[in-house]
Amino acid sequence: MTTPGPGQGAAPAETQEARRGAFSSRKVFILAAIGSAVGLGNIWRFPYVAYENGGGAFVIPYLVALLTAGLPFLFLDYALGHKHRGSAPLSLARESRKAEPLGWWQVGICFVIAVYYAVIIAYSLRYTFFSIDKAWGDDPEGYFFGDFLQANDPGVTLDVVPGVLVPLLLVWALVLVIMWLGVQKGIGATSVVFIPLLVLAFGALVVRSLFLPGAADGLDALFSPDWGALTDASVWAAAYGQIFFSLSIGFGIMITYASYVGRRTDMTGSGLVVGFANSGFELLAGIGVFAALGFMAQAGGVAVDEVVSNGIGLAFIAFPTIISEAAGGSLIGVLFFASLFIAGITSLISILEVVISAVRDRFDLGRTTAVLAVGIPATVVSVLLFSTTSGLTVLDIVDFFINRFGILLAAVVMMVVLAWGVRSLPSLAAHLNRHGSLKLGRVWMALVGVVAPLALGYVLLSEFLDTVETPYGGHPTWMLNVFGWGTAALVLVVGVVIAFTRRAPVTPAPVDDSEKEAGR
Ligand code: ALA
Repeated sequence: MTTPGPGQGAAPAETQEARRGAFSSRKVFILAAIGSAVGLGNIWRFPYVAYENGGGAFVIPYLVALLTAGLPFLFLDYALGHKHRGSAPLSLARESRKAEPLGWWQVGICFVIAVYYAVIIAYSLRYTFFSIDKAWGDDPEGYFFGDFLQANDPGVTLDVVPGVLVPLLLVWALVLVIMWLGVQKGIGATSVVFIPLLVLAFGALVVRSLFLPGAADGLDALFSPDWGALTDASVWAAAYGQIFFSLSIGFGIMITYASYVGRRTDMTGSGLVVGFANSGFELLAGIGVFAALGFMAQAGGVAVDEVVSNGIGLAFIAFPTIISEAAGGSLIGVLFFASLFIAGITSLISILEVVISAVRDRFDLGRTTAVLAVGIPATVVSVLLFSTTSGLTVLDIVDFFINRFGILLAAVVMMVVLAWGVRSLPSLAAHLNRHGSLKLGRVWMALVGVVAPLALGYVLLSEFLDTVETPYGGHPTWMLNVFGWGTAALVLVVGVVIAFTRRAPVTPAPVDDSEKEAGR
């Protein structure tokens, strides 16, 4: 299946791999993968998605999605990157030249996600400091939209907001320095420090929230099962969507990270650790967030459902309200926003690494050049689109469309192409089985080749029909067309065009005959 170019043999494994960079051990890889998975999706998306989609009953579609699609797809990503030792496009091209466009499509998706993900991290950075003196006074909502975002005008205005621009530039500077430091000294070292810090900060937040008056009402609201929801297709769609975004699968991240792991590493065992750690953190976030919302409802004398809101509203309006009202509120604020910041940074670096490693492989660039080649345009787009007075509307639209018609669509196509077009599953399973503690066989192949594509295909079709019928979020049609459908289509087209232009021969993965590598 590999297509070596004329006259091009495999370079010695050690030379090529030293040049690309590698994680120094399995532990560092697992921390980096958990760092990627645990992100904004866990802290602000999961609690709301679970609550909206059946509460306690959501556990069922969530676990089904994790076991039938999430973990099997994670293993697929791992197998590709670990076997072929390349970025997403190169690994897919080494599997089959026909699969290369999928890799570039995923690179485009990552570029789009990175430019808006950084903005939410920038908001979190600013709010970590706002929490200290509760800068929003007694009107968190007015403060967020008016004072902070300056988004008061109706319609679209593209004036740059300095209060967003400055932290956004700081986030990009920090992240690009991490990327420049490389796989181990940058990504690995950041994860080794940040993940324990995140567990401590978020753990302390959850414990504090559980002792707030009204916490039990919040947990009741989250966990009261609405079994009827299980017959609703959109609930299942929400579960699959959540799993893919949250586990960082379907957008090239785990292919890229797996390519930096020692060859004799137990990848399936590592995947189980990453998958369950991610879901565990998600559950913890649900508990912490709803305990705090229970307090907010009790303090306001209203029912919990009246204070629940999604992503932006939850973090930047509900939490500031809680911070103002709770004893020791500033500490709660610092813990919450610092957790968002840390979780966001360790995910953003993984998203960017997909693009940087792809550019390095394709144009044979050193890390510094590639970081600049990707980092400068990303920073410029991020600033131009999202640090303006209409940035939040654009962000909301891009996030909605790229998750569904980017990540999920690319995942379905990838499974179908690899299972039925290239027929790669037996060889990929055999690769992971050489050192994996969990052996992959027919069940895995059936899940990746049949069950997950059918389930996700159905989910996507129903989401597509819904989105066509009901324009998302009540936003203007032209904005949905440009930033929603337009962005989703653009990354696909650009991906295909890149894959088919300047088609240099694909070199084989470096030969491994040393058996000396680290990573056990
Ligand atoms: N997996 C990352 C998140 O959950 C992207 O935010």
